[in-house]
Amino acid sequence: MEELEKLKLELKSLNSEYARIKEVPAEKRGEFGRELNAKKNEILAKIKAKEEELLDTEVLPLDITAPCAPNEEIPKVYSVFEGSKHPLMTELDRVVEIYQLMGFDVMESRQLDDEFHMFDSLNFAKEHPARDGYDTFRTEEGLIPPAHTSTMQHRVLKAYKDKLENDGEIAVVVPGRVYRNEDVDATHEHTFYQCEGVYVSKTCTMGDMLGILREFFEKYYEQKLNIRTQPGYFPFTEPSLEFMIEKPKSLGGKKGDFLEMLGCGMIHPNVLKMAGIDPTKYHGFAWGGGIDRLVMLRYGLKDVRHFESGNLNFLKEF
Ligand code: DAH
Repeated sequence: MEELEKLKLELKSLNSEYARIKEVPAEKRGEFGRELNAKKNEILAKIKAKEEELLDTEVLPLDITAPCAPNEEIPKVYSVFEGSKHPLMTELDRVVEIYQLMGFDVMESRQLDDEFHMFDSLNFAKEHPARDGYDTFRTEEGLIPPAHTSTMQHRVLKAYKDKLENDGEIAVVVPGRVYRNEDVDATHEHTFYQCEGVYVSKTCTMGDMLGILREFFEKYYEQKLNIRTQPGYFPFTEPSLEFMIEKPKSLGGKKGDFLEMLGCGMIHPNVLKMAGIDPTKYHGFAWGGGIDRLVMLRYGLKDVRHFESGNLNFLKEF
């Protein structure tokens, strides 16, 4: 580009030379003129060649697989960052695999859901203030990008109802992306991931649930953990608990440093009933918790916003 500008300036300066023609003695004017014209033509030819050259590179089709910008000269030595799996997806695979090894099936969640699955099927009474606790987004058509993976509970129960009668149990986990209309900061994102668990049988108890959750967290963090629960409230479980683990020393934790990892409880009889399962015959427990938080603790990450940032410097570390 610079070269082109230089040539155009040269062409301009020829004009003042042409203006000087009057000062040249008459007998030399012819030669002077010819020389100027030759110079002008030479510059014009160079400008044309340069413009064509630039045009050639500008019309290069955009190759999105190219390792560098297509209009730049390809550097002789360059390193290609081939891309990699997003750390959340790698960790989600690990999470799901641990549950699969315990015998759980996997059902994927969805990105758009409705009022019924978000609230009604989960025993949220109409107009109940608990509905506001989920900071849901809504589309203009009134659909809801799910604010938790619990929206899948009703579908899981219905889809596995026959299996429950034949095999005596339902054991399913549901990983999924969820959305909340939150003020974003280092510990809150509008988009994050959860994993839900649903278990139903004739004889299961809260003790079974705590055993499964302990096993999961100890496998995930590859060490023995201290766990604790405290009462919680969710309309779809009764009783409801918050499940906590003591932050391990190896991950910078101190004694008594308990972190809430998920919500859980015994599935409310109304939730079973709405899916056509007889709550006098069957019991169930369910849990759901954030994947981002799980991963942040594992890698000592301080800011949840990294995950959705698309920042290559962050992603390349995994
Ligand atoms: N869905 C709840 C939330 O996002 C977490 C939860 C609580 C899931 C209790 C459950 C449950 O399945 O039984 O806050």
